[in-house]
Amino acid sequence: MNTVKAIYPGTFDPVTNGHLDLIARGSRIFDHLVVAILLNSSKNPLFTVDERVQMLTEATASFGNVSIATFQGLLVDFAREQQAQAVLRGIRAISDYEYELQMALMNRRLSPELETIFLMPDGKYSFVSSRLVKEVFELGGSVEGLVPQFVIERLRQHRT
Ligand code: PNS
Repeated sequence: MNTVKAIYPGTFDPVTNGHLDLIARGSRIFDHLVVAILLNSSKNPLFTVDERVQMLTEATASFGNVSIATFQGLLVDFAREQQAQAVLRGIRAISDYEYELQMALMNRRLSPELETIFLMPDGKYSFVSSRLVKEVFELGGSVEGLVPQFVIERLRQHRT
């Protein structure tokens, strides 16, 4: 029987409920889903890679077919190493589309057999991003319901 393994790559700085919504959807479609954190991101992350691995591991503990990994270099090379057939990415709004299409087509050029699958998170997360969560929290606003409770704790620890 053919099984389908997918990679869900990203920065996850930190994981949001929007990411988790997508992971839940991906875990229902794919036999195995690898959530892969990019090392050496140019985005100057707030959380270390270890912290992001810990948060994602805790947040996805209830999914039997989801694992957490890190990667560096090209995503297509990591996908090949993992023997994955698909890349999962989320599209929240039309504004995400252009960047996602560019990446998907570049990845297709690099690795024609690797398919990018787009899923939409629940509409209630369409405005949620890691960047805005960090900004709102830093400026004293509430991020309740946008990230898991333990992520809020970690954000507090980073402030002190
Ligand atoms: O969560 P993000 O920051 O939107 O994720 C971006 C990510 C990690 C998916 C993308 O930057 C990536 O795949 N980087 C790995 C390097 C690579 O393969 N670059 C070419 C992609 S077209």
